[in-house]
Amino acid sequence: MCCVYLQGSMRGTLVVIFQALLWLVVSASALFTVSLEKSIYEAELHGDIKLVCMFAKVKSLSDLTVIWSRLEPKPDVNVYWLERGKENHNYTSAAFIKRAHLIHEQLNENRAVLHLKKLRIKDSGTYRCIVKEGDDGDYKQVMLNVTAPYTAIKKTIIKTGQDEVELSCESQGFPSAQVIWSDGQNTNLTEMSNSTTRSTHEDLIQVISKLTVKRDLVNNYSCSFLVKGEIQQTATFKIPDEILTQCSAQYAWIIAVVVVLLAIVLISVILRRRKNGQKNRRNESSNCAFLFPHSSSGKTDSLLTVNENSLKTCDINSEETAEKSLRNVLIRQYSHLYTNAEMKSRLVSYELLSNEGLSLNISSIVPDKKEIILLLGKPGCGKTSLAQILSSCWAESTTTDPFNIRQLRLVFQADCSRAKGDLFQVVKSSVSYEKPLDVSELREMLLGPTDCLLILDGYEEGNKDLDETLEWFLQERQTCRVLLTSHPGKCPTLEKSIRTVLQLTQKPES
Ligand SMILES: *[C@@H]1O[C@H](CO)[C@@H](O)[C@H](O)[C@H]1NC(C)=O
Ligand SMILES: *[C@@H]1O[C@H](CO)[C@@H](O)[C@H](O)[C@H]1NC(C)=O
Ligand SMILES: *[C@@H]1O[C@H](CO)[C@@H](O)[C@H](O)[C@H]1NC(C)=O
Ligand SMILES: *[C@@H]1O[C@H](CO)[C@@H](O)[C@H](O)[C@H]1NC(C)=O
Ligand SMILES: *[C@@H]1O[C@H](CO)[C@@H](O)[C@H](O)[C@H]1NC(C)=O
Repeated sequence: MCCVYLQGSMRGTLVVIFQALLWLVVSASALFTVSLEKSIYEAELHGDIKLVCMFAKVKSLSDLTVIWSRLEPKPDVNVYWLERGKENHNYTSAAFIKRAHLIHEQLNENRAVLHLKKLRIKDSGTYRCIVKEGDDGDYKQVMLNVTAPYTAIKKTIIKTGQDEVELSCESQGFPSAQVIWSDGQNTNLTEMSNSTTRSTHEDLIQVISKLTVKRDLVNNYSCSFLVKGEIQQTATFKIPDEILTQCSAQYAWIIAVVVVLLAIVLISVILRRRKNGQKNRRNESSNCAFLFPHSSSGKTDSLLTVNENSLKTCDINSEETAEKSLRNVLIRQYSHLYTNAEMKSRLVSYELLSNEGLSLNISSIVPDKKEIILLLGKPGCGKTSLAQILSSCWAESTTTDPFNIRQLRLVFQADCSRAKGDLFQVVKSSVSYEKPLDVSELREMLLGPTDCLLILDGYEEGNKDLDETLEWFLQERQTCRVLLTSHPGKCPTLEKSIRTVLQLTQKPES
């Protein structure tokens, strides 16, 4: 586990050994002392915090070494390293790169202040500062707790029986909360309730608590979220008043939906008639024609504007339809790249090596769900062809599937060497859609639970928009598999943070 954030296991072990040695030296010394302002820090999710270690006066800052690491939870990770006055980011854990800084101005005031930004729940733990001047040094430990206040309660009432309704309160935060129920007479109803929890992608705890009550008994029911004995959120249901308002609201909603659906049917009938009247071009994707209106049709503008606005109302099954139509477009786009024979002759010429130099089967190139693989190779070694083979294999232009890639829903292959804009624009520009492709929809598909593979071919660090959105995307996505191809040395930050780095070479001709 200690190597998760480091490129190779050797390097990881060396760092740990080195830190342990340093720690021994430091703990034996008594001349130089480090002290604390406080030993427990509390901060909120997405906020920032400054952890402070104070040290005895030093003669020269250029001889000063400051190492911040996190000891708990295991494994130890390096958070920040100043080595004899010079910053060294070589061993910094990927989780802290760009989020951890030392406030240099404060060193003059004998304070080693670690500034952590964009806090995550998982940043909670025990941190140690080691401060050294020459051979003298000392260390101290502090604890950081990152919390998230519970969000405003979402109330729901569902009819569960002839004369019963289920009240439900939902909220999320951190750490765990106890949900207490009571009625208008302050009777404790907690034992009759049922709470379930799950953790969100940001490691928050989502709590849903339910209580079943008689629907015609006049009473007020409250749910309260307690954290460490303190109430953070409360909501009250007034029964039966709220049942009536919620039900009538529900009816209003149903009527609205029916009206909108009727309007859609009407509009699509008119549209279809007009289209048939014009020319019968492409009838494939007309099952959700409002999603991707033709950009080129000039005559039916007024109707099409209406349809663009009704994008939301098509949502009921738009996700599936949008995914399907995108899938068809991508399959068409990739299906002419490689034939079976071409693929076979190409594949035998490749040699795929793990970072330790072991020879791997070529099918190891396909990342698992949520995995990232960085494929490095010298110019001309065939990385782009390999990417194209993957895409065409997925698009079934080859008879066999040596990569087992056809199980994936979507494969996006984007050429980064001519990249402009952020990640999603780069992906968008690589899809040759006849109609305007909605970036936000593409984004949702890439971030969501669809099993997809994103191939970024010829990636190089240095394009700020792309680098930043890629970093964000790699953290936020739910399942998307990512394969990056690059030349050695062109993406030093990623090379350090990605666990699976593979090398591609051409087999020597025999
Ligand atoms: C960081 O690593 C690079 C390449 O491995 C090396 O050239 C450089 O000297 C290292 N920097 C420090 C401060 O150790
Ligand atoms: C910090 O978190 C730990 C572990 O969750 C907990 O035991 C401790 O009480 C917390 N400290 C504070 C001050 O909240
Ligand atoms: C209500 O009951 C629950 C468990 O039955 C208990 O944990 C809680 O402290 C009680 N709350 C009050 C206000 O009595
Ligand atoms: C609570 O809800 C879960 C899931 O809905 C159910 O399996 C369980 O039996 C319920 N427990 C009580 C005490 O009602
Ligand atoms: C419920 O609360 C309202 C005010 O919020 C109060 O007027 C009413 O009497 C309460 N009803 C019961 C049954 O406690």
